This record gives sequence, structure tokens and C-alpha cells, in this order.
Amino acid sequence: MSAEPSASPSRTGVWLIGARGSVATTAMTGCAAVAAGLYPVTGLVTETEPFAASGLPALSSLVFGGHDTVDCPLPKRAETLAAAGVLPHGLPSAVRGELTATDGEIRPGVPLPGDTRSEDALIDTLVGDIRDFTRRQGLARTVVVNVASTEPAPEGAALPASSLYAAAALRAGCPYINFTPSAGLHHPALAAEALAAALPYAGRDGKTGQTLLRSVLGPMFAQRALRVLAWSGTNLLGGGDGAALADPAAAAAKNSGKERVLADTLGTVPQGEVHIDDVPALGDWKTAWDHIAFDGFLGTRMVLQTTWQGCDSALAAPLVLDLVRLLARADERGLTGPRPELAFYFKDPDPGAPAALGEQYAALLDFGRRLGDPR
Ligand SMILES: NC(=O)c1ccc[n+]([C@@H]2O[C@H](COP(=O)([O-])OP(=O)(O)OC[C@H]3O[C@@H](n4cnc5c(N)ncnc54)[C@H](O)[C@@H]3O)[C@@H](O)[C@H]2O)c1
Repeated sequence: MSAEPSASPSRTGVWLIGARGSVATTAMTGCAAVAAGLYPVTGLVTETEPFAASGLPALSSLVFGGHDTVDCPLPKRAETLAAAGVLPHGLPSAVRGELTATDGEIRPGVPLPGDTRSEDALIDTLVGDIRDFTRRQGLARTVVVNVASTEPAPEGAALPASSLYAAAALRAGCPYINFTPSAGLHHPALAAEALAAALPYAGRDGKTGQTLLRSVLGPMFAQRALRVLAWSGTNLLGGGDGAALADPAAAAAKNSGKERVLADTLGTVPQGEVHIDDVPALGDWKTAWDHIAFDGFLGTRMVLQTTWQGCDSALAAPLVLDLVRLLARADERGLTGPRPELAFYFKDPDPGAPAALGEQYAALLDFGRRLGDPR
């Protein structure tokens, strides 16, 4: 008799790169809370009526694991987030059992200081970790999601860590989501492998705040024939993401996605820049200001200013769960390659996707219908 459970078509693995981070911990804790009926499904698009017949895996069927380069226990990480008000008070203890079980499924990330292994050896180790998890847990499939710290854009031939993980996902036969602006599967060295892998993948960089607003307001200006002259933005945030984005190279990777939305929706590149300031005292709460100068009829100058105050991980976590469910189902239906139908969720979506949120939502609904079509 085998010691391992046989693969259950009803259980789906979720392998989080950066599994001990804020977004990952909020996604795992929130999934357990909602699956147990402790909290409502607010923020989960895949729980709305249009997706009821899409055949998506149930939240209660998701099994989590992942890689991280730090070793803070997950229950402790969740307590820290609750103390900061990101998670509801008392929730980490209510789902402690689930968090402790997931903690046992988190493996050391790469590269760790002093590691001299080759890229192939590192990828092999990552593949082994993901395959062991899938086999041991008896999962129908495992979706790999990058929610690790943002990296600077890569230079030279060496693969950055995000691309080592993306290569490992392909070689382990897993659908892949890049929720960060890091290179991941976008690295040119992985293009041929991605095409040949016959797996669905989607990215990149979750659209949760300032860019979400831009993808709604940009089309509004264009449709009303108003001329946007300048669009300037400033973000204040703390937490691990704020610290990572204090590196100008990492911030540049992030900002190019924010600016691309404007170019794609307005058809021109307005003046103005996006700035990101690390303010540790703000923790996971982000304030984003946008200042938009535009001309109306007869050249009359006007200004729109917006203030967004969001809790980053609470905005991101349901999107991660949505994406996992949609991509797992796409894999089950044999859909492969980039999935521009998921552009609704990303700042820098796969080629072929519309740029306006309304059109992206329509494409997502259509995708949801196709996922549920009888064969
Ligand atoms: N609203 C949002 O929160 C939002 C929106 C879009 C994108 N993102 C992206 O999601 C990512 C996660 O954000 P966060 O707030 O959870 O950050 P975080 O700093 O809290 O978590 C990142 C985690 O990644 C881990 N990590 C770093 N390098 C690693 C490596 N090489 N291998 C494995 N793990 C590694 C860190 O140890 C940490 O636990 C960031 O890249 C961020 O830009 C977040």
C-alpha cells in the first residue's frame, strides 16, 4: 500500500514564492477564514455569480506551501499582521491549525548567502520541492505564484531568483502566476521553454490600487475627448514592499507598469512621473496621490486629484486566490500559454489584452464562461 495519498481531482496546490510575506500570509489566512465561513467573500471576484458555473476549485480545496528565504513561523507572521491591523484581531489563532500545517510545507528559498550551486542545480532543487509537495499531498495540480520581494530589472545573462522559480514551475509542470513586477517568466532566456511547456501562465504585477484607478480614469478621459497633459503620482508605503521599493532599481521596475497603463489607455504619454517613498511607520497601508492636469473644451485647464488609502495585502490577497482558481481551472481544461484574459488583475498584462478595466472585466467574464462550457 502506498504511503502517499492518491491524486485527488478536488485538491489544488498553491505554491507561493515569498510564502512568509504579507501578501502570502494574508492570502493563506484569508482563504482558511473564508473557507471556514468565519468571514464573507468580500473582494473575491471568483465568488461572484458570473463564476458560479466556471468549475473553479473550491477555496476549501486549496492546499498551500512555498519557498521563502526567511524562517519566521507563519503563525507568528500572521500575529504580526493582526497586531498591525492587516488581519482581524483573533483570526490567526482561529486558523492556527491551518497556518501550522502550511508552515511545515515551506522550504528554503534561493539564493541563500554563500550558495555556490549552478543555476541548473538551484532549479532542480526547487523543482524537487514543488513535486514532493504535489505528490505528498496527493494534489491534482499545483499553481506556482510569485509573491516575493520585487527585484531590480535583471542585467546580464544570469537568471534572477524570480526567473529561477519560473523555470522551476515550468519544469515541475505547474501553471505559473507572476504577481510582482520582477522578471519571472518574462526573462528572454525562458521564452522558448515557456512556449514549449504547454502550461497556462499569467502576469505580471498585481493591479490593486493606484494603477487600478488609472485603468478606470484613463479610458474616461479618452472617451470624453479630454486632453490629459500631465499625470503625476506619489506613493507612500511601508512594510516589506516599501523597504524593497526604496531601492531605485526595484522602484523603476514597479513604475514602468504604472506608466504603461496611461500610455495604453490615453494613446499618448503625458508629462509627470510616479514616485514611491518608503515610510516604515505606515506598514502595509499605502497612500497614493494622483494629480491629473487636463484640457477641456476651448482649452480650459482643469485638474483632478485622487487620494487612495489602501491596505496593500488586503487588496492583493483575494486577487491571488482568484488567479490561482482561474489558472488551475484553465490548466484542467487544457488551456496553455499566456492568458491575456486575466489582464483585469495585472498592471503589465500579457500581450493582446485590452488596457481599460471595463474591457478587461468583460474579457474575464467571457473567460469564466468558457471555463465552464460543457466539453
Ligand atoms: N497590493 C500589494 O500588496 C501588491 C500589489 C502588486 C504587487 N505586489 C507585489 O507582491 C510582492 C509581495 O509583497 P509583500 O507586501 O508581501 O512583500 P513582503 O516583503 O511582505 O514579502 C515578500 C517575501 O518574499 C520573500 N523573499 C524575498 N526574496 C526571496 C527569494 N529569493 N525567494 C523566496 N522568497 C523571497 C521575503 O523573505 C518576504 O517574506 C512584492 O513584489 C510586491 O511588489 C503587491
